[in-house]
Amino acid sequence: MSEIKNAVQKLYNTYPFPPDPLLDEPPPGYNWRWHYQSAYNFCKGKKPQKKQLRILDAGCGTGSSTEYLVLHNPTADILAVDISENALATAQKRLQKSGVLNDFQGNIEFRQFNLENSRELDGYFDLINSVGVLHHMPNPVIGIQALADKLADDGLFHIFVYGELGRWEILLMQRAIALLQGDKIGDYRDGVAIGRELFAGLPESSRILQREKERWALENQRDECFADMYVHPNEFDYNIDTLFEFINTSGLEFVDFSNRDFWQIERLIKSEDLLQRASQLSTQERYRLIELLDPSNVTHYEFFLAKPPHHRETWQDDQLLLEAKPELNPCMLGWESKSLLDYNYQPINLSDSEFALMQWASQNPSQNVTVKDILSQVNSTLDEVRSLINRQLIMMA
Ligand SMILES: C[S@@+](CC[C@H](N)C(=O)[O-])C[C@H]1O[C@@H](n2cnc3c(N)ncnc32)[C@H](O)[C@@H]1O
Repeated sequence: MSEIKNAVQKLYNTYPFPPDPLLDEPPPGYNWRWHYQSAYNFCKGKKPQKKQLRILDAGCGTGSSTEYLVLHNPTADILAVDISENALATAQKRLQKSGVLNDFQGNIEFRQFNLENSRELDGYFDLINSVGVLHHMPNPVIGIQALADKLADDGLFHIFVYGELGRWEILLMQRAIALLQGDKIGDYRDGVAIGRELFAGLPESSRILQREKERWALENQRDECFADMYVHPNEFDYNIDTLFEFINTSGLEFVDFSNRDFWQIERLIKSEDLLQRASQLSTQERYRLIELLDPSNVTHYEFFLAKPPHHRETWQDDQLLLEAKPELNPCMLGWESKSLLDYNYQPINLSDSEFALMQWASQNPSQNVTVKDILSQVNSTLDEVRSLINRQLIMMA
């Protein structure tokens, strides 16, 4: 076990990940998965009440996620941990250089730490972010269980792990490189050199080369990315069935995929009859159907877990909705305009009444304006308000 952990540590000390450049300014835009209010709203259907947050970046790497966590949660207590000392050193440099800490009123600590021992961490966390980490642990079940035990009662656990169907060619190349490395396995620079030479010589008809070119070549210009992909000493890849087995070991409840739109069967099936049949399937079977029909795009799964019983407010009760107080989702670009980018950077065009609703929602929350107040001023409907909620444009308090 600890041999595998040491090999993973050596990889990320040789090639700290991600190799995002260190900037002299804060990172661009936003990432709603790391904005607690926005992520909570996505999962629970309403704005969180909790103000004093504790956040764990579990396997922070070189700190690209940590930097957004700092930027988006300016009063939070943030702990960022990793086993790679070189990745941690870069993460610290990143945050110092970009200046995000200048306006930060919370606490940030970086710590070299093995996530297998997460139960030893003090207290509980409202948001645990673990992107691209659990699938590299010697036993991911030990990792997910230890972290699940550290989730606060109303907390959210955001996870990213690999999908086997979309990584099929990667796996073949990993094995080819390993065969050629022989007893030099574990020399990651040698592995990268072999991999690059192999790609340079493969015929155009090679499926492995085609996949590399169409999907990965841009990011793999950086050796750190190439190494992370092709010479990793330890990687678990999941399919929907093994993913849900894995999730179930955590004792937590699956909330949703954070790329929710991808997991809509209507994207792939147009026949009414087949859609009707698909609607008879369990949620997990429907997800399985989606990945069977669109395998090459399932390179990973990104999703939220929460402590049971998880409840998501859907605002179907008219009275409840009339009394709620809307606010704008902080993750959008282009407000105050009718054409803007939503939380996923997708272009949105608002109708006149939607725009008017959002203008009311953008007022200072201390004014306590309810949906009922707004609908007495704006010619709109509760269903239009629901549509804005579902599209993550407004959050209800
Ligand atoms: C692919 S990188 C992801 C980094 C970052 N989360 C991101 O998404 O950009 C995986 C990171 O997990 C860390 N890691 C792997 N196993 C770990 C463990 N048992 N405990 C702590 N960190 C670990 C590695 O050192 C590496 O920095």
